[in-house]
This record gives sequence, C-alpha cells and structure tokens, in this order.
Amino acid sequence: MRNLKSLIEQMTLEEKAGLCSGDSFWRTKAVERLDIPAINLSDGPHGLRAQGEDQDHLGVNESKPATCFPTAAGLASSWSVALLEQLGAALGDEAQAEGLHVVLGPGANIKRSPLCGRNFEYFSEDPLLSSHLAAAHIRGTQSRGVGSSLKHFAANNQEHRRMSVDARVDERTLREIYLASFEYAVKETQPWTVMCAYNRLNGEYCSEHPRLLTEILRDEWGFEGYVVSDWAAVNERVPGLAAGMELEMPASGGERDAQIVAAVQNGQLEEAVLDLAVERLLRVTFKAADARLENASFDAEDHHQLARRIARESMVLLQNDGTLPLANERRVAVIGEFAERPRYQGGGSSHVNATRVEPLLEALETRGASFDYTKGFEIDRDAPDQQLEQKAVQRARDADVAVLCLGLPDRHESEGYDRTHLNLPANQLALIEAVTAAQPNTVVVLANGAPIVMPWAGQVSAILEGYLGGQAVGAAVADLLYGEVSPSGKLAETFPQRLEDNPVHLNFPGEGDVVRYGEGIFVGYRYHDTQGVAPLFPFGHGLSYSRFDYANLTLSADTFSGDEQLTVSLDVTNSGEREASEIVQLYLSDQTQTVPVAAQALRGFDRVTLAPGETARVEMTLARRDFCWYDAERADWRLPTGSFEVRVGASSRDIRLSRSIEVHGDETPLPAIDRNTLLGDLQTHESAARVLREHLADLAEELPMLNSLMDKGGDNDLMDAMGRYLPLRALISFSSFTEARLDALLKDLKALA
Ligand code: BGC
Repeated sequence: MRNLKSLIEQMTLEEKAGLCSGDSFWRTKAVERLDIPAINLSDGPHGLRAQGEDQDHLGVNESKPATCFPTAAGLASSWSVALLEQLGAALGDEAQAEGLHVVLGPGANIKRSPLCGRNFEYFSEDPLLSSHLAAAHIRGTQSRGVGSSLKHFAANNQEHRRMSVDARVDERTLREIYLASFEYAVKETQPWTVMCAYNRLNGEYCSEHPRLLTEILRDEWGFEGYVVSDWAAVNERVPGLAAGMELEMPASGGERDAQIVAAVQNGQLEEAVLDLAVERLLRVTFKAADARLENASFDAEDHHQLARRIARESMVLLQNDGTLPLANERRVAVIGEFAERPRYQGGGSSHVNATRVEPLLEALETRGASFDYTKGFEIDRDAPDQQLEQKAVQRARDADVAVLCLGLPDRHESEGYDRTHLNLPANQLALIEAVTAAQPNTVVVLANGAPIVMPWAGQVSAILEGYLGGQAVGAAVADLLYGEVSPSGKLAETFPQRLEDNPVHLNFPGEGDVVRYGEGIFVGYRYHDTQGVAPLFPFGHGLSYSRFDYANLTLSADTFSGDEQLTVSLDVTNSGEREASEIVQLYLSDQTQTVPVAAQALRGFDRVTLAPGETARVEMTLARRDFCWYDAERADWRLPTGSFEVRVGASSRDIRLSRSIEVHGDETPLPAIDRNTLLGDLQTHESAARVLREHLADLAEELPMLNSLMDKGGDNDLMDAMGRYLPLRALISFSSFTEARLDALLKDLKALA
C-alpha cells in the first residue's frame, strides 16, 4: 500500500493543482519524479471510442475498432442484470486491450421527455430500472480492473442548451426520480468516478454544486471515488474544486491549474481541500494503474456474438397478429434502406468504430432465407420518392410477407440537440401507406433510439422495436423474425399516442435557460397511469412467441413496518410451445394518500427463461425505502401508514395478480410550532393532540369545529374542515381563547419537540 498522505506532502503546489485537470483530451497528467502515472479515460458506454493521435471531442476522427453493442435504450429493454454485467465485463476486457483505465459511462439520466436527443444512451424513465441496470454495467466493467464513470450527474435530461440550462426541480422529485436513478448504482457498486453534468441544477452548475457533489454524493451516499467534469463543463474552477469536482477534463492549457495555485496562495482555497482532492485522484489513479493488464486482448468474434445475443434479448415485439415468426418457406419482400445500411448506434461522443457490421441483408443471406430486397426510400432524404415506392409496392405484392425496415435517420436524433416531433420521416410514412395497401402481411422493424408515434400501427401485422441494436443488429433481427429465439424484451419507457400526451410537454425544453420540471414525480408511466392517459405501448410491454401464466402470489407477511424485508413470491409458467424468457414486474400502489403519489411505481423485476410447460417460483424483495416518499421539509424518507397494493404483472398495464398489505408507518412528525400552525396538523400527532385537548377542553362547547379533536364524533364536514385548517391564532377570533393562553399552549407544544 502506498502512503498517499506522505506522497502528497512531497508534491509541490503546482504539481497538486496540475493533477486536477487533464493533460490532453483523454489522458490525465503524470508526475514522473514521484512515479505518479497518467491514466486514460475514454467513451463509453456501449462500446469504446479509444482515439489514437488524432483526438477530438465528438468523434469526428476515427477511433480504434471496438465492438459496438446495442445502446442503453435497447439494453434496458432486456431488463437483464446478468446481460448488462456481461456487457460491462466485455467493455472492461476491450479497455484493457486498448490501454484504457476508465470507461465513460453508463449514463443513468432519466428519460424525462421522449424528445431528448440523447435518450438512446439512457436506460429508462424509471429510476429503479435505470439504477439497477447502471449498477450491473458498472459491476461488469469494474470486475475487469477498469473503472466506470457514472454520468451525467444530475438532471441532464435534455440536449437543448445543455451547457447552460438550469433544471429547476423540486426536492421531492429530485430525490424520488432524478437522484434515485444514480443512488442505488453509487451505493451498490462504488463507481471509480462520477461525471458531473453540463447543466445547472436549481441555479448552480452541477460542476460546482456542493450539495450535489459533496453533501449528497459523498456524505449521504458514501461515494469514495472522484468526480470528473463532463468535457468542458467547468464554469469557475476554484468553486468547482471546493464543491467536490476533482478532475477537470479535458486539458485547460494550464489556465485553471494556475487559478487553483493562486487561490491557495491568496487564501481563497484551503490547501487541505486541494490535498483531499489529490488524495482522491491518486487513489483511483493507482488502483487503475495497478489493475492494468499488459498484453491483454479480446476475441472480436466472441464479442460480436455477445452483441448479437444482447441485441436479440433486448428487442421488443410491440405488436403481432401471428404473422411472426416467419416460416422459412415464405417469400419475403425486404424493403427499406436500413436493411442494407443499418442504423445501429447514435451520434456524438458514444460513436463507436465497429469491428464489423452485420446488416439484415447479410444475415438473411447467411441463413439462406427466401427474400427479395428493394430500397423503398433513401435514408439520407426525408422526401418521398415515387419510383422507389412503386418498386417496393411491386415487390410486396409478389411476396407472401413484406418486412419494412424503418427508423430514425441519424440527423433526426443525436447527442447535442433534441427532436421536435415524434414522427418518422415523410418518405417512410408514404411507404407504409403504399406497401400496406398492396400487402396485408406487413411487418415493421424499427431502428430508433427513442419512441416514435405510430398512427399507422393498425395497418401493419407486426412491429418489432429494434432500438439501436449494435453491430450484430441484422443477425439479431433475423433470429427473432424467424423464431430462432422468442422475443423477450419489454419497454423501459412509455410510447405515447401523441407527443402532447407526454407529461413534460408543457415544460419542455423550457424558456431560455430555465426548464421547470413542472410535472414533478409524474414522469412516464407514473403520469399515464395516474391521469388515465392511455399510451400507445405502455411501460413494461413486450410480446413473446410463447405465453406465460402467473399464479400463487404470496407475501411473507400481512403487515409491514419497515424494519424487515417483505418477500413477494409467485409462480410463473411457460404455457406456450417454445422456450422463452419472461420479465416479471412488481409494482407498489400506495393507497394511503399521505401525499400525492403515482398510481403505481416499479419496485422490483426479474427475468426468467422457461422451457414449455416449466414453472418457476419467482421471488422479489421489498424493503422500507420501496414504500417511502421523500419528505423535503424534514429532508428524510417517510414511511406512510395505511394500505398498499402489491401488484405483479407482465407490464404496467397487464397486472396479473395483486394483494393488499397494511403498513405501520413512521409516527407523524411534529410540525413546526408557531402561531400559524394548523390545528389539523397537530391533531394527527398523538402527543400534540393530547396537549391540544388539555388546553382547549373548555372551548369544546363554544367551538363545534373542535368536535373531531375532542372525539365528539365529528360528523359535520364544514366544521371539521374549519377545525382542520384553523391556525392556532384564529382560536382567539372565534372563541374566548386569549393571547396569554396561546403563549402557554405554544410553550407546551414546543416542549414536545
Ligand atoms: C458527453 C459525455 C462524454 C464526453 C467525452 C461529452 O460531450 O456529454 O457523455 O463522455 O463528452 O466524450
């Protein structure tokens, strides 16, 4: 073990400040005289972008060949912790082979709006799913002695004005949704680094946000690694360092290192703060350098096959009238340029130079399928082309089935900007009309990183959502179309019928540099289910070529008080004819109405693979936090008292079994006591109610609004409401109560605190 403290003592002020920023785009600084090595950081998150000498920020210059796995939108639809771990480990192996020490990812930002240009790189609209998958990704990578950088912390939910926008999020929403998406991953896996976001959060840049980077991330969650800035996210360097952002990336040409030196010299920054930052930097640096495997390599073909397996377990069969799977002997018209030039990844910093790409046409040839191909439309143009369309119609008419390969071209969605609508380009919409008029058996295969609207869904037989399927996309699609394996992915986000149905619609992308998260906790299905707005395809939805029955739901207890875990068990049976996987989802519905809550929230999931006729007992556990809401006033999680419904199902809208459970929650906390405290707020607190009764007993006759307090059978709604919402001082106006008695009452109430 190195003694970091004594090493830091040997460093000059300039050397210490120097360690707090990069040497180049992707490399930290070394201090050779003290044997402190430099380490390499590189994107992430679904494949590596290791650049050689020609370095740039957003992937203009080519990077070294690496396996391009499906992007997070697809990965998340697998709901598979095991698969995400395998992917993370494969990234770790490739990183070792390329001499990288830290992979920049995964991204755990919540998909607040389907318009966000970077949704393809994020997992879900649900924090539990997002956080568990991020954790698995990190566990995998770090198991190979390579660090992860969990990003972008926090509330980076749009690309529009991403480097300046101020996300205004109330505390409860922040805790329950946006921070929760990071929290589990940080606590469970200790990522070596966390990357702070570009944007501001409630007025302060995330790169210099002491509450975010120190109080929450470190003091509350126990994060032990270091925080790296997103590339060029630094606003003011010295406040950033003081707030807990240790490494600025990329290099700042020495400018900001000099600012740190000056700040220490003139007393603006305590040297101890810099020393602590350096200690954190060195700890990760040495860990990374020590874990480096010289001469590591990876098997590109193995990783290609892993990419294929991950892709086919991630794709989601949204709709199917039985046309899929395709029988081998059917003549298929494959239409759409994506079959030849697949869109298998997104644009921007995550862009991978794939070791190989397997388009659908190649995969169909390899399997000897009976098909004809025609382009149908051009990816690079949006305008319809009648000639291409006519040819497609002819091919479709001559075949038994048409497979339309559609999706969003690169320019429609990317890092850096958001979409403005959810439609497919006009040429593809025209093609759907023309082909479905000629061929009743039409299957649509989609390539897109985020939801689209589908006014045409009723015209087609089947829809396979392929997301951005990685370099083996064609093979995975062919496997699913022909039923080599059954589709098993389920949506990790809601597909709305119309853009306007999205809860964020009125608050996206904000006014100037301010975006208000006005929908609060009601993001995605939390809104659709609570407000009763039917989605096009709900959160958790995905079809199979098999069928699953759910039975025998049991809970390990009938009541819950938060001290123990609650085990939820059920039988899932594959009652179809083929092996397939099912994703079982567990939702909790808080019916206590203590505060406004979503109709239901995902609190557990499991993925099981079953042979025909096989039954598995699925077990999921619930803990205190799953039942809690965040009480911003008291800065703590509160367990409410009353009934909850435990629901299990095949999607958020396909609940198969449910059971009620009584929760004995936390004692209602004493409200802040002053003249304006409401009677009703005191009445729900046992000791406060007793004090009230003692002080107000003689007023009971005068004031019928005290009936319910005095247990006199409050059956007059008006009077009860008057009492509940009465500030203590108003007792004086309505009765013989006096200021002197009010003072005495306040004194006794305060004594309870
Ligand atoms: C992105 C990060 C990425 C970094 C380095 C930034 O623009 O937001 O996700 O890791 O660039 O490429």
